[in-house]
Parts: sequence; C-alpha cells; structure tokens
Amino acid sequence: MKWNHDDGTNNMTMEPIIGSALDRSIILKLFKKLMMLTTMAVFALGGCRQQMADQPHQRPLEPNNFFDDGMASRPVVPGTVPRAGRNQNDQRFDSKVDGKLVDNFPFEVSMEVLARGQERYEIFCTPCHDRLGTGQGMIVRRGFTPARSFHDPRLREAPAGHFFEVITQGFGPMPSYANQLSEHDRWAVIAYIRALQFSRNVGLDQLPPEDRAKMKETK
Ligand code: HEC
Repeated sequence: MKWNHDDGTNNMTMEPIIGSALDRSIILKLFKKLMMLTTMAVFALGGCRQQMADQPHQRPLEPNNFFDDGMASRPVVPGTVPRAGRNQNDQRFDSKVDGKLVDNFPFEVSMEVLARGQERYEIFCTPCHDRLGTGQGMIVRRGFTPARSFHDPRLREAPAGHFFEVITQGFGPMPSYANQLSEHDRWAVIAYIRALQFSRNVGLDQLPPEDRAKMKETK
C-alpha cells in the first residue's frame, strides 16, 4: 500500500506508517502482558485445584456423625453388581458348605471347562507343579521348594474344596492365585487336576473297551 500522494497535499502521508509501527509495538506489549496474565491465571487455577483435592474427606469405614447410622460409608445401592463378579452370598462358588469342604463342582464339567482348566493350569501351575502334576516344575528344578505332587494319595483323596482353598489363599511358599484366576477358572483348573490324577490311577476295567484294547496292544 502507498500512502504518498504526488500532489503533496496530504501532510499526514507518513503518519499512518509511523502510527502502524507504534500500534504494532503496543499490541506486542499488550500481547506479552496478556500472556503473562494467562500464565499466572493457569498457575492460580492450578492452586485452586490443589485445594479442592485437599478438602476434608472420609476414609472407608471411618465413623461420621453426619449420618444417622454413625458411619461414613454408605450402604450399597440395591442391585449393585460386585466388582469381583459375584455376590458374596452366592455360595455356589464357595469351597465350604456348612463349614465342610465341598467335593462336587458348582457347574457341569464339560470338555470345554476341562480345556479351559488345562490352559490355565499350564500357564499358572506348571512352573512349579509341572505338566503332569508331579511337583517337579522348572522353578523347582532350579531350586524352589518342591511343590506337592497331585498324585500323592492324600491329595487324591482331598476334596475339591481343599484345592479351591489352596488356590485362593496360597499354601506355605505357594502364593495365592486369586487375582489371576476367577472363581470359575479355579474350579476349571481343579477339574483338570482331577483329570491328571485320574490319568495316573485308572484301572484297566475303568477304560472304555476300545482304549482297553489299545492298552493291551502296547503291553
Ligand atoms: C511358585 C511355585 C508354585 C506355583 C506356581 C503353584 N504352586 Fe502349588 N505348591 C507349591 C509348593 C512349594 C507347594 C508345597 C507347599 C508345602 O508343602 O508346604 C504347593 C502345594 C500345592 C498343593 C498341595 C497343598 C497340600 O494340601 O499339601 C496344591 C493343591 C497346589 N499346590 C495347587 C496349585 C495349583 C492349582 C496351582 C496353579 C494355580 C499351583 N499350585 C501353583 C508351589 C507352587
């Protein structure tokens, strides 16, 4: 853009140029101030958030006289779905019924359940108990406390609920697997252990005729 006029009548010729240069530096200063203010505001707001996070609060199960029952924790809303995946009162998955270890499974053991049990067993139990369940897993061979063999007569006799308790709570040097195995998976693993136990202690007469014939052939 050209501000000079040839006839020289416009005395303001240079002013707009100077003016615009001035404007720019003022705008720049203003802009810098604004930036500073914004930065300060961000820090100030950050401070506010900190205070909100520090506000008074109650820990679970702490007493509190605000509510009639004197407890800070509120009762769960009816119909709440538990995070663990089942209602604590649902006894179908418990290892004990009326204080006695159960020896039956809470659901039907299908081939699908056994396959799931084998998969979970091979992931979580073989490092110590080995694939056959004799307790000579790789960790044991490298020096870990020997794991118990599932073919030990005591464990063959032990009710399924005992295995459920051992998996849930751990046993001596063996850690709990409650976080890795859902209750359904624990029962599936136990079903697979039962299959392992059976595989080593089956009588010829317990086999179906075709398998019996095969056994006789290999003999
Ligand atoms: C880190 C090694 C380790 C892993 C993994 C492990 N166990 Fe064990 N387990 C042991 C040891 C060691 C013992 C023997 C403890 C003892 O006799 O004091 C044992 C004992 C047992 C027993 C016998 C308890 C008894 O009454 O004597 C059962 C049942 C058992 N484990 C089941 C399992 C199952 C099922 C898994 C997989 C979910 C598993 N364990 C994974 C180390 C392990």
